[in-house]
Amino acid sequence: MTTADAFSVESGQGRYRVEPFERIDGLFAEIGRIDHAVLVADERIVELFAEPFRTLGATLIHRVAATEREKTLAGVERTLLAMQAAGANKKTVVVGVGGGIVQDVAALASHLWYRGVEFVFVPTTLLAMADSCIGAKSAVNLGAFKNQVGTFQAPSRVLVCPRFVDTLPDDDVRSGYGEIVKLAIIDSAQRFFAVRDDVEGTGFRGPHLGRNIRASLETKRRIIEIDEYERDLRRILNYGHTFGHALESVTGNGVPHGLAVAWGVDVANFVAMRRTILDHATYAEIHRFLKAVFSLKLPAAYDAPQLIAAMRRDKKAYDGTINLILPHGLGDVRVVPAAIDAELESQIGEYLRSDDIFGR
Ligand SMILES: NC(=O)c1ccc[n+]([C@@H]2O[C@H](COP(=O)([O-])OP(=O)(O)OC[C@H]3O[C@@H](n4cnc5c(N)ncnc54)[C@H](O)[C@@H]3O)[C@@H](O)[C@H]2O)c1
Ligand SMILES: [Zn+2]
Repeated sequence: MTTADAFSVESGQGRYRVEPFERIDGLFAEIGRIDHAVLVADERIVELFAEPFRTLGATLIHRVAATEREKTLAGVERTLLAMQAAGANKKTVVVGVGGGIVQDVAALASHLWYRGVEFVFVPTTLLAMADSCIGAKSAVNLGAFKNQVGTFQAPSRVLVCPRFVDTLPDDDVRSGYGEIVKLAIIDSAQRFFAVRDDVEGTGFRGPHLGRNIRASLETKRRIIEIDEYERDLRRILNYGHTFGHALESVTGNGVPHGLAVAWGVDVANFVAMRRTILDHATYAEIHRFLKAVFSLKLPAAYDAPQLIAAMRRDKKAYDGTINLILPHGLGDVRVVPAAIDAELESQIGEYLRSDDIFGR
């Protein structure tokens, strides 16, 4: 991603720009130029980048622990209280610096403060750079349920620097690639094979990183510009998520989100193959790649009845049915309404016994 690659996203709340930076110091200089900025940042990022934070004109008002426990209304309230203590007003621009957790907490706080002030997001995880930073969704957890309360509100700017990935732990880099692979399969055969060859050629941190971030955002932009509010087409972005969320739920969030998505993509493909929607060769091609690069030894055990029970509790399930997002081929992922029934349970069971990519 180079500066020449800046692009805009059309949103119901106006157009916003995604601005790439080659260097972290250049990005911090830009943050320093934002008038009325208050910074809400991941505490780990504040430690890692202490020097650039010190030199910044903008005020760091709140450090967020990047945990699902902090991604709650209580976490949003702590951010709002910090804004209040810092004398925030109607002109305040909230600048969130961190991954998806900081994005959700800071975005929601900015939407609630005086019924909404500007939100600038600086994604520092690969998942946030390649996927969550555009699309206007923000939500926090409520009780035992993830992402149950939230809003649709677009950021006013997104500042992206792929160099943040240099300090990101390997599991978080792989997690980001889970969403990148999801978007590549949604996009086209060409994109899937390009990502596969990049990763198999030079690993997750290869020189292709900026290109794959950009291509993922392009795919997502194409979809959200048609359906920002998830009435129809946007639901295909949940590919891998129905099963992935069930796995996150039964393992008590013991799997990084994007790895749960990669696993969920493989389960969706298996179910599509068993329902003769997807041909066996395409299933096997994707499966081989996912198993080679996304395998994970999970401490927690899980089985098909537990996963089915979690799917019934999913906020998108209704009356025992759910929209499965199933591939009909590479570049052809569709919404297929389905019952959460014995047939689905048996297909998940068969997947777990056959060749679960997490290879328990
Ligand atoms: N709003 C949306 O559209 C959307 C989309 C997808 C996911 N999400 C949410 O995002 C959350 C997951 O976010 P995530 O995967 O981006 O990660 P995260 O925010 O949970 O951060 C993961 C870890 O990486 C650390 N970290 C962040 N940047 C770093 C860096 N550059 N160097 C070193 N460490 C760094 C964090 O401190 C944390 O320990 C979930 O809660 C998920 O529900 C939201
Ligand atoms: Zn996701």
